Amino acid sequence: MPAQPNLFQKQYLLTAGPTPLPPAVSQVMAEPILYHRAPAFIEVYSRVLERLPRVFQSANQVLCFTASGTGAMESAVSNLVRPGQAAVVASCGKFGERWAELCDAFGADTTHLAFEWGEKVDPARLDAAMGEITTPPRAVFTTQSETSTGVLNDVRALNEVARRHGAILVVDAISSLGAADLPQDEWGIDVVVSGSQKSLMCPPGLGFASVSERALELAATDRSGRYYLDWAKAAKGQAEEPPNSAFTPAVTLFRALDVALEMILGEGLDGVFARHALLARAARAGIEAAGLERFGPDDDDANVVTAARLPNELDGAKVPTLMRERYGVTIAGGQGRLKGKIARIAHCGYFGAFDIVVALSALEMALADLGHELERGAAVGAAQRVFAEAGVNPVALA
Ligand SMILES: Cc1ncc(COP(=O)(O)O)c(C=O)c1O
Repeated sequence: MPAQPNLFQKQYLLTAGPTPLPPAVSQVMAEPILYHRAPAFIEVYSRVLERLPRVFQSANQVLCFTASGTGAMESAVSNLVRPGQAAVVASCGKFGERWAELCDAFGADTTHLAFEWGEKVDPARLDAAMGEITTPPRAVFTTQSETSTGVLNDVRALNEVARRHGAILVVDAISSLGAADLPQDEWGIDVVVSGSQKSLMCPPGLGFASVSERALELAATDRSGRYYLDWAKAAKGQAEEPPNSAFTPAVTLFRALDVALEMILGEGLDGVFARHALLARAARAGIEAAGLERFGPDDDDANVVTAARLPNELDGAKVPTLMRERYGVTIAGGQGRLKGKIARIAHCGYFGAFDIVVALSALEMALADLGHELERGAAVGAAQRVFAEAGVNPVALA
């Protein structure tokens, strides 16, 4: 293909993590660093610890670790799973499979119920699989939004299954917390983990674990096999008056999170979920109008990422590369076995209507450049109609 001028110098980060940062979040991180034992930071830290549980919709203390989301996942496995003990993993994609890798790494006797990438975890099959396990597992590990495929699992139903078999459920909500509804206490889920760089609109670097009293007690029966990620240590420090992190906290990230939480709670969780639902609807309409098939089940609750199956005749891996290199629009392609097969349009965190329009427009342009026949503008027009019909201004964050 002949070299073409790069028409756009402007870069658009439209992936499912790291996600775009609101300017106010970026700005606060440019302020002078604070000493973590000084009142100025303790005020920020206390406010974040008070507000975070509201996003988890839980009365739990939310334990904070300086780590990416996987660190929070590892905290769950290292606190709940002992070598030789049974653990169950119910996965349907790359991130669900990470639970199995972690359980194996910590020496668990892992039963891994792996669904096809693009399917949902089926509660009935989990129920049947758990019925066959002779030693009851302490915990079942699963994912709410499987970011690698866009699939959203029914974690409420999965929790009922786990409970029926005497196990607690541990949910990876790393991309979904703050995008899809997950009322932890109402649904009775013992552990929910998340991370800062997705729907919480912050840079990578903070991992969170919202842990019930019951799960804390289970973890406390044996404190071997972990140190930095020990829940009891984190819980003790955070519960002190004023709160006191066991280790130097990521001061700058806490300041960012403080601003982001103010925005999220200002918009209101219902408003946040409604915005994500609308953006997802527009992404789905755009994909369909571009003549692409949606990857995964038709699920109107999948608010976090929308995956499109790329035409077989194209070298699909080129689509996100062209979008980024020629048009300055970074979206994610497929991971692992889905590389070159799907394109993922994210709508989690600081995303508004024009982010979806931009992503769809660049997708159309890249597909056309690669020789795929489509009507230019069809996807963008379909997304616009969704916004127009909704009659709201989805760009405005409260
Ligand atoms: C659902 C899910 N789980 C786990 C992870 C891993 O998180 P991190 O890369 O922050 O360690 C991600 C990140 O993409 C994710 O989306």
